[in-house]
Amino acid sequence: MTHGRQAVCQRSELSGGQFVEFTLGNGHDRQNERSGFIFEREGNLYAYLNHCPHLGIELNWMPGRFMDPDNCFIQCANHAALFIPENGECIAGPCQGEALTPLEVTDDSGTILVRLPE
Ligand code: FES
Repeated sequence: MTHGRQAVCQRSELSGGQFVEFTLGNGHDRQNERSGFIFEREGNLYAYLNHCPHLGIELNWMPGRFMDPDNCFIQCANHAALFIPENGECIAGPCQGEALTPLEVTDDSGTILVRLPE
């Protein structure tokens, strides 16, 4: 961990639109662990907490599967809310107008670091 940041994957793992899931925490306090996911889209990296604003539960049922069938929006597997990948805003579904929690991402020579949320 560096200055509140945690290494979550290598940049090469995100090629081809792969989503990588990770757990953020200090390794000692499981209650404060947060799960998240990261992906690359048109050369930019985006990471969010894996936490649907509708019910506060994880978005996906299948490992690494977050996108809708058209690969346009992040889709919650629970009640099909749709989120804009680039900013996390919910544009359809029971939490329309709310948003996923974005995480700050840094690429440190190919190692991807994510800042722990407050
Ligand atoms: S829990 Fe995500 S849409 Fe209901």
